[in-house]
Amino acid sequence: MREFFEKRPDLKVVIYAGKGGLGKTTCSAATAYWLAIERGKKCLCFSTDPQASLSDIFEKDIFGKGVQSFGPGLYVLEIDADKRIAEYQEEIRHKIKEMYGLDEIPKEIDEST
Ligand SMILES: Nc1ncnc2c1ncn2[C@@H]1O[C@H](COP(=O)(O)OP(=O)(O)OP(=O)(O)O)[C@@H](O)[C@H]1O
Ligand SMILES: [Mg+2]
Repeated sequence: MREFFEKRPDLKVVIYAGKGGLGKTTCSAATAYWLAIERGKKCLCFSTDPQASLSDIFEKDIFGKGVQSFGPGLYVLEIDADKRIAEYQEEIRHKIKEMYGLDEIPKEIDEST
């Protein structure tokens, strides 16, 4: 992995993907730690996993709490995807109500947002 990153100094985004239990979260955290703390880069490690695994690795409850700093250049974000989706749906509802001057969204439309 070290060789992979050293050959690609301009790499901006790294995504670990694959089936369950392969080591995506562990490798994401280890890569971010290595890049930031050992290589002096500015790095944001983020996950949308509702299991809150980054909270376990960094030993702090950061789920849904925005970007957290864990040392020089090391930032970690554990997105609460369900909350973000609910907020986005609420924004859309608000826009529809404003656009059509409605007090409430008709049920058929609400179900499709
Ligand atoms: N490079 C590695 N070598 C050996 N064991 C590892 C390695 N990376 C991760 N593991 C171990 O494998 C298990 C699964 O790791 P991890 O939780 O990072 O996987 P994941 O792909 O994020 O899983 P999930 O799909 O459930 O989110 C953990 O017990 C972890 O300690
Ligand atoms: Mg994981």
